[in-house]
Amino acid sequence: MHPAKELRGKKTNKLLHKRIVLGITGSIAAVECVKLARELIRHGATVYPMMTPSATRIIHPDAIEFATGYKPVIQLSGQTEHVSWCGLVQDPVDLLLISPCTANTISKIARGIDDTSVTTCATTAIGSGVPILLVPAMHLSMYDHKIVQKNIEICKDHGVLFLDPSISGHKAKSPEVLEIVETVIRTIGKQDLKNKKILIIGGATAEPIDDIRVLTNRSSGKTAVALSIDAFERGADVELWYGYAQEPVPSYITFKRFETVHDLFVLIKDKRVKQFDSVIVCAAIANYIPKKLNGKIPSGKETLTIDCFQAPVVLETLRSQLPHGEIIAFKTEEQKKNIKRRTQQLLSEYHLDGAIGNTLAGFGGEYNEVLLLTKKGKSTWKKGKKEELASVILDMLR
Ligand SMILES: Cc1cc2nc3c(=O)[nH]c(=O)nc-3n(C[C@H](O)[C@H](O)[C@H](O)COP(=O)(O)O)c2cc1C
Repeated sequence: MHPAKELRGKKTNKLLHKRIVLGITGSIAAVECVKLARELIRHGATVYPMMTPSATRIIHPDAIEFATGYKPVIQLSGQTEHVSWCGLVQDPVDLLLISPCTANTISKIARGIDDTSVTTCATTAIGSGVPILLVPAMHLSMYDHKIVQKNIEICKDHGVLFLDPSISGHKAKSPEVLEIVETVIRTIGKQDLKNKKILIIGGATAEPIDDIRVLTNRSSGKTAVALSIDAFERGADVELWYGYAQEPVPSYITFKRFETVHDLFVLIKDKRVKQFDSVIVCAAIANYIPKKLNGKIPSGKETLTIDCFQAPVVLETLRSQLPHGEIIAFKTEEQKKNIKRRTQQLLSEYHLDGAIGNTLAGFGGEYNEVLLLTKKGKSTWKKGKKEELASVILDMLR
């Protein structure tokens, strides 16, 4: 078996049975294509490569053949690959991904010029309605060129999708492989949350004790980030409000930071919160807020007492802001035997649509065990990686 085939589905099956033509053009970012192709395959995809002659001067076709298990099509043959993959045929591919895409190839696609295997495929795909995703990569002066920009607009008018480059110095750089793969999953994945506006509130609060110290907790932010990524992949318009936590947020996730319960209230009371169809609150929010002292509490005290007052409950205000929106919230209990009763209490008290119970064991690690409760009375225990659980939790929204 070719080594590329052994990779299939090693990470997930999110692209299983999806066939992708990967068009590679003559940008220096083509050196990332081995990684890109293999990552798509790890999520289950089959990748058919095509290269422009310029691309073959940047990366050798053998490397691409090794990465995908297929000889890249550099020149169309009597097989009419452009038609059998992207034409009006019974079984066209699911996506034509051109990554990286040069200024030259963008402009040719916009004008219907097809003098390479990649541009011919693009013309065919536009004509037959096969989705096309372009990932431009070039020097900023090329990207800012008015004609190139105009050609990007022409492509967009014809339904071509773009993943915008990240502008850094004088470069319009291709996004990281991970972001390209996530965008592919979002574009041709199950899309069952498409057009839903979802807000995830996650991470810990951090309440000041004095001007430099905070009272916080061990929430890692992993569940919040996993929920945001899964919602993004499934086509949702997702926003993350992220507290004090370590888990990095991918660049393609829109997020706002908060620190204190007060910060969170400011965000929730803003009328813009009403735009969300669904909110998932997995944040570990302080139940007690210290009375803050100014300056720095001096060191050297033998004992120190910090007065705290009870924090107001965020869920109450959130429900009053979103009387008809879906709200799911997490409840953490020390003892597993109390979880069902306490989670049910949370669900009824704040008129939630769903509630997720878990124990302290869920804090920090990769895995969790959760009880999923719906307002219709359905209850299920699930155990697994936080990424897998995120998907099950988002299933509750449908
Ligand atoms: C080393 C090297 C790097 C290049 N990088 C880029 C690039 O990042 N983006 C771009 O638009 N053109 C880049 N070019 C120029 C293209 O290769 C050139 O415009 C070529 O005609 C593109 O052909 P193609 O679109 O058919 O691949 C580069 C050229 C060389 C030699």
